Amino acid sequence: MTPEGSSGESGPFRVGLLGHGTVGAAFHELLEARADAIEQGVGRRPEISGVLTRSRGQFDDLLERSDLIVELIGGTEPALDYVLRAMRAGRHVVTANKQLLSQHGDELYATAYEHQVQLRFEAAVAGVVPAIRVMAETLAAAHIERVHGIVNGTTNFILTAMEETGASYEDALAEAQRLGFAEADPSEDVTGKDAAAKMAILARLAFGAPVGLEQVPYEGIERVTPEDIEYAKDLGLSLKLVGRAERIGGGIAVHVYPAFLYGGHPLASVRGSFNAVTIESPAITEITLSGPGAGGTQTASAVLGDVISAMIPPPTLPPPAVEQEIVMDVESAFYLHLEVADRPGVLAQVAEILGLQGVSIKSVVQKGLGDDARLVMVMHPVLESKFRAAIDLIARLDFVRSSPRVIRVIEEVFE
Ligand SMILES: NC(=O)c1ccc[n+]([C@@H]2O[C@H](COP(=O)([O-])OP(=O)(O)OC[C@H]3O[C@@H](n4cnc5c(N)ncnc54)[C@H](OP(=O)(O)O)[C@@H]3O)[C@@H](O)[C@H]2O)c1
Repeated sequence: MTPEGSSGESGPFRVGLLGHGTVGAAFHELLEARADAIEQGVGRRPEISGVLTRSRGQFDDLLERSDLIVELIGGTEPALDYVLRAMRAGRHVVTANKQLLSQHGDELYATAYEHQVQLRFEAAVAGVVPAIRVMAETLAAAHIERVHGIVNGTTNFILTAMEETGASYEDALAEAQRLGFAEADPSEDVTGKDAAAKMAILARLAFGAPVGLEQVPYEGIERVTPEDIEYAKDLGLSLKLVGRAERIGGGIAVHVYPAFLYGGHPLASVRGSFNAVTIESPAITEITLSGPGAGGTQTASAVLGDVISAMIPPPTLPPPAVEQEIVMDVESAFYLHLEVADRPGVLAQVAEILGLQGVSIKSVVQKGLGDDARLVMVMHPVLESKFRAAIDLIARLDFVRSSPRVIRVIEEVFE
């Protein structure tokens, strides 16, 4: 199919560029630098047919002169309107926009399907790490059971700094801002919302189900303390902001939360601002992909990769999504940190309450004396509702000196 206004299968492949900020400008430069090599490999030369920003360009005119639209504006409006209009006009679209895909995925996929155009978005999740391509193409035949992701570089940078230097959350965040790894307003990152949007996109691909941002409960890292990280080291654990998408019974569950990982988990060794995605399927055991999750040049490289893929027919279209039950109450192992009075019988009472709720303890460390006495435990997997019920009771015990601190533990290791 040749879209109206297209240059067809000969002549330059015309790329209309929406947005010319960090990623847009880097993409423009990279495309021009790589145009000769792409022409040699693909047989057509990509060229920028025009640029739209707030102060330059006109969308209808740009659309008319383009075979493909690259959307690097960000946010939902006017990006959604432009992307939908481009697809309805028969143009392929490449975007790096996680908000757009996680909030309007149904409409975007349906429009791409209806108009038989490609909608590519490798850079929307984990930057240049090729998680989308691997899931949609390489693993198209695999039945994906579970996906774990470290999909936010800012929070991984902060947690790594806390682990390596013993810094507080506030100091590690300030350092991340000073070095350009966190924005002046870091709230989307540190609350887990950015990661939740990316996990919604990955879950849709992994399970072929329409998952939106509103179906992904998320927790951030703002309340993590250096003590949590320090004590957990004694238990062989390291802390990450983890996205977890999995099949449970007949449904699926997608969550984002800070979680402890044992050393054998492939994500345990992902440090600094890197991102990584672990995909589990019986057919492949597990595959972990990791690399830079952001940065103008890195993200632009993923965007250009998508453009090259779209230049090569036939188009790959996302299959229509099938509704599945979204499971909210999920089994997990938990870390529990209690500040307690230093007196006999404390551990026995805590263990009794846990036991009555069906929670069993995997390991315990008793720390400190007197006013500094603490109980740090890891539980075997249990339904979250049961564990929370036990914690509500434990919090009311007279020897518990402050609110119990709870962090999930991811048990899988691949050794
Ligand atoms: N930065 C990264 O490392 C990174 C990594 C992965 C994904 N992404 C995604 O890439 C996309 C672009 O991010 P970015 O960091 O390049 O953003 P950015 O630096 O803020 O650039 C945004 C660009 O969009 C233009 N724009 C904004 N509102 C517009 C409107 N209403 N109409 C027309 N143009 C408008 C801006 O125009 P003006 O120049 O006129 O302001 C600017 O050129 C986002 O979806 C982001 O989530 C970024």
